[in-house]
Amino acid sequence: MDKFLIRGGKKLKGEIKISGAKNASLALMPATLLASGKYELYNTPNLKDVNTMIKLLSSMGVTFERNNTTLSVNTFRVNKFEAPYEHVKKMRASIYVLGPLISRYGKAKVSLPGGCAWGPRPVNLHIEAIKKLGAKIEIDRGYIIAKAKKLKGAKIVFDIQSVGATGNTLMAAVLAKGSTKIENAATEPEITNLIEMLISMGAKINGIGTTILEIEGVEELHPTSIKTIPDRIEAGTMLIAGAMCGGKITITNCEPKHITSVLLKLKEAGAKIKISGSSVTISAPKIIKPVDVTTEVYPGFPTDMQAQWISLMSLAKGNSKIIDTIYYDRFSHVPELQRLGANINLIENIASVTGSKKLTSAKVMSTDLRASAALILAALAAKGVTEVFRIYHLDRGYEEIEKKLRSAGADISRVASEEY
Ligand code: EPZ
Repeated sequence: MDKFLIRGGKKLKGEIKISGAKNASLALMPATLLASGKYELYNTPNLKDVNTMIKLLSSMGVTFERNNTTLSVNTFRVNKFEAPYEHVKKMRASIYVLGPLISRYGKAKVSLPGGCAWGPRPVNLHIEAIKKLGAKIEIDRGYIIAKAKKLKGAKIVFDIQSVGATGNTLMAAVLAKGSTKIENAATEPEITNLIEMLISMGAKINGIGTTILEIEGVEELHPTSIKTIPDRIEAGTMLIAGAMCGGKITITNCEPKHITSVLLKLKEAGAKIKISGSSVTISAPKIIKPVDVTTEVYPGFPTDMQAQWISLMSLAKGNSKIIDTIYYDRFSHVPELQRLGANINLIENIASVTGSKKLTSAKVMSTDLRASAALILAALAAKGVTEVFRIYHLDRGYEEIEKKLRSAGADISRVASEEY
């Protein structure tokens, strides 16, 4: 397994290009199951999770060709309708095949995702919604077994906003007979990107960008080509790196309007932000001001930025409170950040951070994707050389992170590690 060696304290300056959004690609790729033919998915990031989705869809008969960031997809020969445990346990987003399979082929066998590094990740909302559309669903030895002659439109009201459940329900409803109304739908940009793709395939969907989606089922869809939106979480992560390490960095190929909540908080923390088109420049504050954050569904402050914000606040001049209302137990980064000298008191889903002037290097362990990002950020600012182990977690969702950070002046290198 690899580890990162990071010598902290270097000022960052220069440009960092943002890749396509992991969480958009993981929805756009299974959407190709909805119609046979050839697709071009532009700006697709080269990530472990994308490759896991490629393996899963290939096991169903889908073929792929990658040319730089364009992923060509061919769904002429889909002949299997199962998402086996070995794929799903690696990546929860594999559940996204359920909606298109049941809607296009009337059958699906998808492993339950189980938990992840920070706790249970239920899929009850996905199952209930697809049942409401007329599918027969049973859970058998860890698998969701779904069958349906023809799905029928229905009214679906989610009691909580769920990105995945909204995506799966959309992909089930577009080929159902009649109309479907989804209330309390997720409005994350990745869902908007999926809706754009479905509409360009011939789907009839109203309410894009809102919590009320109305879908008129159609007989058939056709392939399309679509551009994946920029990764707003990578963008936010890199901006926090700029805020923590002093200096000034510009992120390019991003969508500033997708990170408004993060930009506002960075300004409150004293950073200077300049937006021009698809670029954002951040000048680090001399003193980082303490800023409380409570994660919310979009357009609120994203839970996927919670860990990175705690890293920033560990260097603030004063105390701050970070509350995660989406995942109550998504704090596996806290004990590792404490090893780097961060002063954090965690009670349930509330992290109280007492900022300090500096962090110090240590050996730390990645536990999940965004927790690992938080460790990298802290290590970039910590005095001395930090070793971050199990960085395969990072490779799931950050394309060539060490190259991108090195291009802005960071002293970070990837080395093989026998330890851990
Ligand atoms: C998506 O996960 C993202 N993943 C996550 O990003 C992100 O943290 C999450 O949305 C929230 O924004 C992808 O898009 C691939 P949810 P998803 O369904 O769809 C509860 C990353 O780091 N819930 O919106 O799985 C759930 O437990 C990943 O890139 C149910 O109770 O998240 C959570 O508390 C991590 N039942 C809340 O809803 C369900 O059936 C929101 O989850 C589904 C969800």
